[in-house]
Amino acid sequence: MIDTEASRTAVLVCQGRAVANGRLGVGRFSDPLAVELLTAGERELVDRVRAGDIPKGVGARIEYELLSGTAELLAARTAVIDDAVRESANPQLVILGAGLDSRAWRMPELAGVTVYEVDHPASQALKRERLGARTTEADLHFVPVDFGKDTLGASLTAAGHDATRPTTWIWEGVVTYLTPAEIADTVTEVAKRSAPGSRLIVTYTTPNLVHRYGRRAMELLLSVTGRANPMAREPQRSSWTPEGLAALLTERGLTPTSDIDMVAAAAAAEVVGKRERFLAAGRIVVADRV
Ligand SMILES: C[S@@+](CC[C@H](N)C(=O)[O-])C[C@H]1O[C@@H](n2cnc3c(N)ncnc32)[C@H](O)[C@@H]1O
Repeated sequence: MIDTEASRTAVLVCQGRAVANGRLGVGRFSDPLAVELLTAGERELVDRVRAGDIPKGVGARIEYELLSGTAELLAARTAVIDDAVRESANPQLVILGAGLDSRAWRMPELAGVTVYEVDHPASQALKRERLGARTTEADLHFVPVDFGKDTLGASLTAAGHDATRPTTWIWEGVVTYLTPAEIADTVTEVAKRSAPGSRLIVTYTTPNLVHRYGRRAMELLLSVTGRANPMAREPQRSSWTPEGLAALLTERGLTPTSDIDMVAAAAAAEVVGKRERFLAAGRIVVADRV
């Protein structure tokens, strides 16, 4: 990410949730706030995809397909993560790289829970501006952190996080944009602050050549057709095998209790879609401090 600019992929995934709301995984997934956190311009494409209005030009078609696939992926992963958060029912929730995540506002189970939204300062500023005067029943704290520069533990301590009480941690759609060293350092901090009963939920990308080159081709087509590329400033910096990530977590005392791919997540969330290739490379691991 560029230091002063908010994440564009955070907007893309919010658009994905806005497309999916009420249409995918109904009864399992819902995010009515997503559309409210978008600008009028960002909503135009959301409306087009929701209407099934397939555009003709190559660039516009790529944008349409990217958002359609993102919507399927987001409905699936959001529902599965929400379940894992409910199941852990811890008194503290830390959302790492929160972007335009709406859990603190839409999940009634988080009423009274202390929620720390950690994000890059520029992305967090954009979210706070877009939230306006909205309030939540959660005890919400914003914690600006750049994983590549700042110390997560010190920032959380300053914000009031209590490492002696169990915490649920969500790291959704973020590690792919971080280097392996940034990920290892962050997991070390998370583990140190995870009292027994804590849970870490991470989505990650596996080394999948079809996905990697498919994404590159999509980005190239967006750029040659003069369309905005939401991934332009946020390159993929790491991918993990399930075994590799499990070793990293286990070495730090976090024991993986489930690790499923996004196709299985979509099935669990009853998301019936047509764009399985968007899901194929992603996984969700849940690791517990026992
Ligand atoms: C694809 S968005 C995901 C947002 C959110 N978790 C969701 O699923 O809606 C990626 C997020 O990672 C954050 N991020 C990327 N690199 C970061 C860094 N070095 N430090 C802090 N946050 C970072 C961005 O600010 C952005 O909010």
